[in-house]
Amino acid sequence: MASPKIAILFYSTYGKNHSVALEAKAAAEAAGADVRLLKIPETAPQSVIDSQEGWKAQQDRVADIPQATPDDVEWADGLFFSGPVRFGGQSSQVRAFIDTMGGLWGSGALANKTMTATTSAQNVNGGVENALMNLYHVAMHWGAIPVVPGYTDAIKFEDGGNPYGFSTFGGDALTDVQKKSIAHQAKRLVEITAKIIA
Ligand SMILES: Cc1cc2nc3c(=O)[nH]c(=O)nc-3n(C[C@H](O)[C@H](O)[C@H](O)COP(=O)(O)O)c2cc1C
Repeated sequence: MASPKIAILFYSTYGKNHSVALEAKAAAEAAGADVRLLKIPETAPQSVIDSQEGWKAQQDRVADIPQATPDDVEWADGLFFSGPVRFGGQSSQVRAFIDTMGGLWGSGALANKTMTATTSAQNVNGGVENALMNLYHVAMHWGAIPVVPGYTDAIKFEDGGNPYGFSTFGGDALTDVQKKSIAHQAKRLVEITAKIIA
């Protein structure tokens, strides 16, 4: 199997999507990928972050993780996104990062990359499906290839069954079932990407 280059791109205000990204990194590496774990740049004013203990603590936890750049996206054969639901869609941080891709899009460099997406929300029906679709919608503009979990593994009948991508709600730590679901999605991204670059 060819060894795909996978960029794991996450934004996380409080830590959940950071945890998802770490699980995805471990699974993608175990599946044979060359992986970059990258944080999507923060756009909120530092004064706002400093005013919330949980947000500031998360900023400190990811201090040593490199910031994602368009060069990382160009490098990657496959993209694994993880970010929280914000008012029913993707966060402005993720959208701002997406909006730095105009040059790559114009050069055709985003075509044929694979993309998969995961998300989290406070409420079970708080917008997870729409947030995932926001990213797949972007993939279609890029000519990138959405790689969704569907129901391709028994774990999808245990994890809440979102076929568009792993999603979770609430503030608790990831369960073993959730970790398995994230690992399945990351492994599937690696395997399908390997077929495409072969
Ligand atoms: C400004 C803002 C908007 C949010 N909008 C939603 C929403 O529309 N639906 C929902 O269920 N949760 C919403 N949430 C909760 C977040 O989705 C939740 O805190 C997030 O999934 C946690 O992920 P993180 O720990 O990676 O930041 C919102 C949170 C913030 C701060």
